[in-house]
Amino acid sequence: MKITVVGTGYVGLVSGVCFSEFGFDVTCVDVDATKIASLSAGMVPIYEPGLEEMMQRNVEEGRLSFTTDLAAAVAAASVVFIAVGTPSRRGDGEADLSYVYAAAREIARNMQPETVVTIKSTVVVGTCRAVRDIIAAERPGVPFSVASNPEFLREGAAIEDFLRPDRVVVGVDDERAKLRMRRVYRPLNLRETPILITSFENAELIKYAANAFLAMKVTFINEVADLCEKVGGNVQEIARGIGLDNRIGSKFLHAGPGFGGSCFPKDTRAFAATGRKAGAPQRLIEEVIAINEARKADMAARVLAALPEPAKSTVAVLGVAFKPNTDDVREAPSLAVIGDLLAEGVSVRAHDPEAMAQAAPLLPGVAWCDSPYQAAEGADVLVILTEWNAYRMLNFATLKTVMAGRLILDLRNIYKPDDIAGTGFSYRSVGRPTLEG
Ligand code: UDX
Repeated sequence: MKITVVGTGYVGLVSGVCFSEFGFDVTCVDVDATKIASLSAGMVPIYEPGLEEMMQRNVEEGRLSFTTDLAAAVAAASVVFIAVGTPSRRGDGEADLSYVYAAAREIARNMQPETVVTIKSTVVVGTCRAVRDIIAAERPGVPFSVASNPEFLREGAAIEDFLRPDRVVVGVDDERAKLRMRRVYRPLNLRETPILITSFENAELIKYAANAFLAMKVTFINEVADLCEKVGGNVQEIARGIGLDNRIGSKFLHAGPGFGGSCFPKDTRAFAATGRKAGAPQRLIEEVIAINEARKADMAARVLAALPEPAKSTVAVLGVAFKPNTDDVREAPSLAVIGDLLAEGVSVRAHDPEAMAQAAPLLPGVAWCDSPYQAAEGADVLVILTEWNAYRMLNFATLKTVMAGRLILDLRNIYKPDDIAGTGFSYRSVGRPTLEG
């Protein structure tokens, strides 16, 4: 079976590479010729552990190729995935579906009869039906099917999530799509992965409801952290205590500076917009969005409160990616925090193992450094904003010799106050007792 994936962004590329890893013959298509050239040369434009090696191996073994020729790639395939972007539209927060619709039209013009066109992009409820109508209008009388197959990949763990998912969700409205999609995911049968076959609308809603729920879980524990700070609790103990209840579960209960990334912010906004439009406002999620925005500003205020004279102070920031193991800074808390610090005249020195190139154009005025210690030079406060492993074993003696101040603000709780005791540093984290050194 031949598979074509239209769009070589994050989801498209990971899916294409992993389908070829399953053993299918896969062609990935993009309009961006430079990107296709560099992918064909074996280079992955994003940082995702394991992706480049897996891609190169499948290209060498002849199962995976890249092209700008959509017509030929679509004509040769029996399943075509749409994995183009669905950015947030400015103003109303709704997902912009113009790329999805444009891709559907082009696929329609070039597909063989009985092709299954599967939407992998995150799309609002109703999109699959709209795509089916677009294709039918473009190719009247030609049999085809549409399917919805939302993606639950986490950046930094995308390969693992694709090859070993908790579940696969597929929305269909005919037998052909159901059988063909079952074949696509047959390699997962070995692992007894549940494949949930449902309607278009359900599949579309599952994706948003899952991300909204997880964003809500994170926001919940962040507010509990605020309460812990006021009444003398420890949010990690609370998270463990509630997470051991299977009905709650221990994941996504790490308090921090607020969620970011390419999915949670965009998807919660789109979910809320869908609810408003449908007359079923998602009030919890509306509030989650507002709380999370306010939280980023509050994190900057915490740093500023520790600086007697912001305009004469230097802050070292460790980590600008929205989470570790990615170079993605989209809607990262670091952008808001550093932006606010710069606006108050603070000198900011920053380090990130992977994301500095992405962050630099968005944060002019930051001094980018080659190591955490270089970033710490002359700093009054050291702020940890991303929980990279590289920051988990800092040498505090070295930090003491290079820093001007003696405060560590750990907004990801990667240390225990005990780790810092005796180093001469004061230590403040999120939702846990502070340590005055
Ligand atoms: C998420 C979903 O997990 C994935 O299923 C979906 O397909 C895309 O969106 P991703 O954006 O890669 O994946 O990151 P994730 O690991 O889920 O983290 C999202 C944000 O929440 C990050 O900013 C992270 O720092 C934050 N987070 C997550 C917390 O602050 N605490 C947690 O306990 C978990």
